[in-house]
Amino acid sequence: MPVERTFTMLKPGVLARRVAGEIITRIERKGFIIRAVKTLRIDRALAEAHYAEHRGKDFFERLVAYITSGPVLAMVLEGDGAIAMLRKLCGSTKAEEAAPGTIRGDYGMHTNLNIIHASDSPESAAREIGLFFRPDEILEWEDGSHDWI
Ligand code: PPS
Repeated sequence: MPVERTFTMLKPGVLARRVAGEIITRIERKGFIIRAVKTLRIDRALAEAHYAEHRGKDFFERLVAYITSGPVLAMVLEGDGAIAMLRKLCGSTKAEEAAPGTIRGDYGMHTNLNIIHASDSPESAAREIGLFFRPDEILEWEDGSHDWI
């Protein structure tokens, strides 16, 4: 598996519900390295850029309204096959299909209020990382534990 970087965002509700630590623990336990992390309040322009591929869909306005409704926690994660691996850890986008044991399966009842976004392809990951982080905010370091994970 190639080492990849992916983008993830813990959406509004996570900080409000005080469960950010629990979600980050799951991500770290799986073996991802956190290369960058920040909290921020997304404005409409960033929300529209981030979800540009969904513009025109019936849920687009709801999606933008939700993501701009409170602070989010954005991260760059790295790991072997990180993009597909994180999507698996998150579970299905639709709340009724997200299996128990996955992040979405364990932390939400409604698709329109799902708690985590994860990039769906290398192209999306590169684009989304670029939207949220400057290159100098992404830390290069060796934790020495790659062979254990
Ligand atoms: S699609 O139509 O298959 O491309 O959409 P999908 O990949 O399943 O979802 C893309 C993001 O839109 C959110 N979503 C919704 N928001 C509000 N209301 C409804 N009905 C809805 N359906 C999907 C979904 O949570 C995805 O957000 P992210 O941040 O990518 O997880």
